[in-house]
Amino acid sequence: MADKIKVFVPRETSALSLGADDVADRIQSLDADVTLVRNGSWGMCWLEPLIEVEIDGERIAYGPVSVDDVHDLFKADFLRGGDHACKLGKTADIPYLKNQDRWTFRRCGLTDPVSLDDYCANGGFNGFLAATKMGPDGVLEQVKKSGLRGRGGAGFPTGIKWQTVANAAADQKYIACNADEGDSGTFSDRMLMEGDPFCLIEGMMIAGLAVGASRGYVYLRSEYPLTRRVFSNALQVAKDAGWLGKNIQGSGFDLEIDLHIGAGSYVCGEETAMLESLEGKAGIVRHKPPLPAIKGLFGKPTVVNNVISLASVPGILVEGGENYAAYGFNRSKGTLAFQLAGNIKRGGLVEKAFGLTLRELIEDFGGGTASGRDIRAVQVGGPLGAYFPVSLLDTPLDYETFAEVGGTIGHGGVVVFDDCVDMAAQARFAMEFCAIESCGKCTPCRIGSVRGVEVIDRIIADANRDGNLELLSELCDTMVDGSLCAMGGMTPFPVRSAVKYFPEDFNNPSGAEK
Ligand SMILES: Cc1cc2nc3c(=O)[nH]c(=O)nc-3n(C[C@H](O)[C@H](O)[C@H](O)COP(=O)(O)O)c2cc1C
Ligand code: SF4
Repeated sequence: MADKIKVFVPRETSALSLGADDVADRIQSLDADVTLVRNGSWGMCWLEPLIEVEIDGERIAYGPVSVDDVHDLFKADFLRGGDHACKLGKTADIPYLKNQDRWTFRRCGLTDPVSLDDYCANGGFNGFLAATKMGPDGVLEQVKKSGLRGRGGAGFPTGIKWQTVANAAADQKYIACNADEGDSGTFSDRMLMEGDPFCLIEGMMIAGLAVGASRGYVYLRSEYPLTRRVFSNALQVAKDAGWLGKNIQGSGFDLEIDLHIGAGSYVCGEETAMLESLEGKAGIVRHKPPLPAIKGLFGKPTVVNNVISLASVPGILVEGGENYAAYGFNRSKGTLAFQLAGNIKRGGLVEKAFGLTLRELIEDFGGGTASGRDIRAVQVGGPLGAYFPVSLLDTPLDYETFAEVGGTIGHGGVVVFDDCVDMAAQARFAMEFCAIESCGKCTPCRIGSVRGVEVIDRIIADANRDGNLELLSELCDTMVDGSLCAMGGMTPFPVRSAVKYFPEDFNNPSGAEK
């Protein structure tokens, strides 16, 4: 009997929000014989729902496909690669995907996320098996060699963090994965956890083995209900197959992982507030030191890492730290999963070695604005990131170069604005966001952000504009110098960049034409 034809329809939040479930149902109702695989997304959001047919071992893509297109697709014989207005050709040849450096996201889109067979058939758990052979010291050496830095925002070297936890003597250590993903325009943690959840589990296993931790927690934002379902399912599948629990695959290594759901607070993404929240307390930032690596969850040494940091490690152990470090630029090694959002034609996820410019990312991959108007500002690194004017679009994306121009790469979120944006309103929004999300522990952030909104309101209303601009600058100095964490300490980044690069928006008597 001939093999059944395989059709792939993503089960991933952006694809589902655009009707992927209905498309899948319609395909199955018109041909009950096709094998429907619900894969992760390749990250080309503007083409979702992007469906694929496997023909002679190759994937042929069609997208965006609506439920109303399905009948016509059958008429066009799409199961054999027939022509249709939605046909995109071979998936692997779509330039957006072809021009990426897929390392962490190598399996995302390729596999059925909760099929262990699919995971193992595509290199899954080879990183962990390599780790059991090389032992904790060997793992630490490879992670250090890779130059991997934390992808959650601060860019701290992962190998050094792991070494600190490994060196700490304790009866219990923890791996705490930060999946709070609160930054505006970001979705890489979600895509990874929905598209390749075993990869995160494997990264946590390797971290646990390296530092001597037998318990792990994943702190997931509540706004990701599908991610919660997919990841819970993957945890159960891994446990049932002996990839989690006691004496994993006879290695002598134990690891339990629990999934914890947050309650919608941005500051709970800050690592110490996250630990408080995991302990069942209000998400209020802790003083540092002590570092979480020395005294973290329940007072024990804890590795806190972002999803993408952990999910990058299995590949590093399979291919070697040096090979990962060969990607990248200056001290920013490896790849980053950039996320293109806002007013952009081709929004989605682009995993690329550090060093490409913002312009290449936004124009070559993103295709410019969705509105077709000129780009005016680009915010990189979430709500605490600076706004870049067009004159800075040729800045290469690496941690140090961005810091030199007053910016941050953060978690890789890139939000594009066209020439309709009002930058004074954006600066006000930054202060307002801080006022709403502040944990309240320190005065420069708790009070400063409220005063910041008031001062910007006066500037917008043209009341003693010069005096208030000076006051805003002093307030920003106080927040940078006096805040306990980066919430208050970095809110001045978007505010100051808006004033510096877009002064005309602050020079506007209310109601006057700009
Ligand atoms: C206000 C605030 C929010 C943060 N939100 C997140 C987040 O959602 N996810 C994340 O991984 N890191 C977030 N961070 C950074 C974490 O504090 C921490 O640096 C990170 O989880 C460490 O992991 P990494 O070294 O793998 O990046 C946030 C920091 C601050 C100050
Ligand atoms: S800067 Fe803001 S969020 Fe951070 S500790 Fe102070 S009050 Fe809390």
